[in-house]
Amino acid sequence: MLKLNDPTLLETRSFIGGVWENSKNTFDVVNPADGNLVAKVADFGKTGVRKAIDAAYAAQKDWAAYTAKERADILLKWHDLILENQEDMAQILTAEMGKPITEARGEIGYGASFIRWFAEEARRIDGDIIPGHQRDKRILVLKQPIGVVGSITPWNFPNAMIARKVAPALASGCTFVGRPAELTPLSATVMAVLAERAGIPKGVLNIVTGSDAAEMGKELCENTKVQKITFTGSTRVGSILMQQCAGDIKKLSLELGGNAPFIVFDDADIDKAIEGCLISKFRNAGQTCVCANRIYVQSAVYDKFAKKLADAMSDLKIGHGSEDTTKIGPLISKTGLAKVEDHLSDATSKGAKVLTGGKRSDKGELFFEPTVLADVTNDMKITREETFGPIAPLYKFETEDEVIERANDTEFGLACYFYSNDLSRVWKVTEALEYGIVGVNTGLISSTEGPFGGVKQSGLGREGSKYGIDDFLELKYVCMSV
Ligand code: SIN
Repeated sequence: MLKLNDPTLLETRSFIGGVWENSKNTFDVVNPADGNLVAKVADFGKTGVRKAIDAAYAAQKDWAAYTAKERADILLKWHDLILENQEDMAQILTAEMGKPITEARGEIGYGASFIRWFAEEARRIDGDIIPGHQRDKRILVLKQPIGVVGSITPWNFPNAMIARKVAPALASGCTFVGRPAELTPLSATVMAVLAERAGIPKGVLNIVTGSDAAEMGKELCENTKVQKITFTGSTRVGSILMQQCAGDIKKLSLELGGNAPFIVFDDADIDKAIEGCLISKFRNAGQTCVCANRIYVQSAVYDKFAKKLADAMSDLKIGHGSEDTTKIGPLISKTGLAKVEDHLSDATSKGAKVLTGGKRSDKGELFFEPTVLADVTNDMKITREETFGPIAPLYKFETEDEVIERANDTEFGLACYFYSNDLSRVWKVTEALEYGIVGVNTGLISSTEGPFGGVKQSGLGREGSKYGIDDFLELKYVCMSV
C-alpha cells in the first residue's frame, strides 16, 4: 500500500484544459515487483486527446504573450514544488515502474533539473540582427514558439522524459499535450497536480491518460492543430509516428532505440571501467536506451575484466524497489522478461557461456538475475538488438580499428562508451564512433547540460542543453527596407 505524505498527489484522472477529468472507463496500474494494484486510472482515447489539443490550441497565444520572465517564474515555482514533493513522487514512480527507490529519487531530481534549466533558458531566447544584403536592407531573425506540442513518453523514465519535453515547450511559449505510457501514468499526473499548484494557466499543460497508445498517438500525429510531436521510445514506433506526421509535414523530435557499445582498451583503468560498466549496464535494471548493450574488451585484459565484472555483479542486491538497499528491481512486464530470456537462450544455443546469473530470480515473477555472457558473437540476437534487461554480453577484440568497425556495425547511433588512458586514442576513437553521445572513461552520460540524442536510426533532434529549446522554436526572417 502506497503511503504518501500528501495523498492528493496520487491522481488517477486526466488533466485537460485545466480540469481534472474522469472517464467511465479505467485501466489498472500494477506494481511490477509484486503484481499489486497501484490504482485504477481514467482511460481516455482519441476523444480525450482531441479535447486536450483544443484546449492547448486555445491557450497557446496567451501563453506565448507572457514575458519570458513570467513564464520562467512559473516554471521555477513548479520546479520548487517538485523538489518539495520529491519523496512522494519517487514513491509513486517506484510503485508503478518498479525501479529502486534510490534511482526514483534521482530521477525526480533529474526531471526537475530540466524544468529549472529551461526556465533559465526562457530568458535567453535571443533573436538576431544580420548585416543586410543591400544598402537599405536590415535582416532580423525572430524566434517564435512552434505552437501546440504533442508528447509521447515511455515507462522507463516516467518523470524525466516528460520533464525534458514539457520544460522547453513551455519555456518557449508552446502549449503541451502529454500522453504518458499506460504502465506509468501516475508519474505524469502528479506533475500536472504540481503544475496546477504552481499556477501554470489552464490549457497550457494537459496530460491525457489512456490504454490505447496507437489510437492516442495517431490523433496527436494527425491532428492539424498540433505543430510538433516529441517522442521517446522504440525505433519501430518512431517510424510509424513519422509516417503519421507526414500528412501535414509535422515537425518531429525522436529519441529512439540504441545498441550501445562499451569498449575497454588494454590501457584503461580496469576498476574504473568495471564501475562505469555497472552504472551503464544496470541503471534501471538495464532498461534504458543508453545502457551498455555490447561490451568489447581488448584481448590482453579480457579475462581479468570478465572475472571482475562477474564478481561485482553477483553483489548487486535484487529486490522490491521500495527497499532502500535494492540495486536491481523487476523488469517492467512479461514482454520485457520474454525478450531477455529469448536473447539469452539464443546466445547460449549459439555458444555463449554464462559466467554469472542466467536465470530468473526467486524474488518474483519479473525479476531476472544480473548476467554476464562470454564468447558472444555477431550472429546472436543480443548483438543486433537492444536487450533492455540485465544481461552483459562480452566480446573479445584485438585492434582499435577492428573494434571501431564492430561498434559502428549497427543501424543505431545513440550512446557509446569507451575506456582508455591514451590521449591520442581518445580523440581518434571519439571522432570515429558514429554515435550522438560518447562517454569517455565514464558510464554515466545523462545530464541536463549536455545535448541528448542520437544519429542513424536512434533519432532526430537533441534534448536538454542550450540546443534543446531549438526544436520548439521557429525562425522568422524579417527583411526590412529602411
Ligand atoms: C533513456 O531514454 O532510456 C535514457 C534517458 C536518460 O538517460 O536521460
